[in-house]
Amino acid sequence: MFRLYIKMKILKLLLLCSIVFSTGMSAVNAEPDSSIDIKKPPVVLAKWYKPENKRQVWLHTMFKLRREMQAMREYAGQEDEVHMRKWLANFEKHYNKISEMVPEWEDKIKPELVSSVRKHAQNKDFYNVAITLNKIRETCDNCHDDYQPQVTAIYRSPDYSDLKINDVDGEPQNIENNMQDLSMYVNRILISLADGNNQAALNTTQNFKQQLKNLRSSCQSCHKDDEYPQERILGEATSNRIKSLEKNIKLGHIKESQKLMGEIAVTVCARCHNTHRIVYDLRESLLPEKKK
Ligand code: HEC
Ligand code: HEC
Ligand code: HEC
Repeated sequence: MFRLYIKMKILKLLLLCSIVFSTGMSAVNAEPDSSIDIKKPPVVLAKWYKPENKRQVWLHTMFKLRREMQAMREYAGQEDEVHMRKWLANFEKHYNKISEMVPEWEDKIKPELVSSVRKHAQNKDFYNVAITLNKIRETCDNCHDDYQPQVTAIYRSPDYSDLKINDVDGEPQNIENNMQDLSMYVNRILISLADGNNQAALNTTQNFKQQLKNLRSSCQSCHKDDEYPQERILGEATSNRIKSLEKNIKLGHIKESQKLMGEIAVTVCARCHNTHRIVYDLRESLLPEKKK
């Protein structure tokens, strides 16, 4: 939590600097444009990813393209025309699939370059094969620069929308409400400790413990048979900290209890947020129309 807080401070500072700079430099604009330009990929792409497709077709086409580019390069270096042409045929098929799958991206590829690779290979002009492969590489890089991170975030990051987690009364709630309750319990404990209301702190710790236990039962909906991710964040170390917290509150050790809360915030909340929440927020901001 504390580290996150510092990160937020730095971010705010950077934001402030950029606003000051941009107002300074474009004094005519009353409203500085602080928006970030992230291009949205065509929606048709969804057809080539789960759950609309049985497989991650787009991604696997990309892996094939990379392997085929490497094979062509290596065989061109060995001046092995026969193998070179075998991989070129596969490459051509998959490269053209880009615009078959996403017609909006037709202008991103240059099939004519594939034809010239073939021509140069036939002439055993491997120098120009290499030059042309570099030009093809540029078409890959250009599209990746514009779209790769957001496509990964949208189509390959975990989706929590169907997740139902029980609250402390056994009523199902979504991840967002589970988090809001968790945050409320954390702060209620901290407020009570600060004001010496030890009994209230102890009572809330029971709810906090139950809420974390319920959260843990949701991990396996994605982490199936893998116990390690749960163990790392909500395992023995965490339950020991909570036991120790209860003991310290009962003994009236406020400082020690506050320190334990800080440790829990870092090892439970921040640690999970670093893998799960960052991509979640990015994904949501790219899909504003998506149901929560
Ligand atoms: C699965 C690992 C995980 C753990 C453990 C976790 N969080 Fe979260 N948290 C998330 C995800 C994913 C989101 C984004 C969901 C959302 O905002 O709806 C989130 C969002 C939040 C939010 C924003 C909720 C909103 O209104 O959008 C708060 C506040 C929060 N977490 C607090 C906590 C606290 C406090 C803890 C520790 C006691 C904690 N979280 C532990 C995954 C986790
Ligand atoms: C019109 C756009 C476009 C073009 C052209 C394109 N790609 Fe991609 N590529 C993408 C997108 C979008 C992703 C992100 C896919 C994802 O993360 O699921 C991607 C991801 C990849 C990846 C996966 C990277 C990783 O490890 O996660 C590889 C490899 C790749 N592309 C290779 C290539 C090669 C080689 C070419 C050129 C011959 C190429 N791509 C041309 C859009 C494109
Ligand atoms: C909606 C799906 C989803 C849910 C629910 C989910 N995770 Fe994850 N988690 C992922 C994905 C995807 C990754 C990255 C790939 C991987 O490691 O499996 C990941 C990675 C992790 C990692 C880092 C990699 C590792 O194995 O150490 C941890 C730790 C983790 N999750 C903990 C949790 C905990 C704890 C919960 C429950 C509170 C949880 N996750 C719930 C999807 C999910």
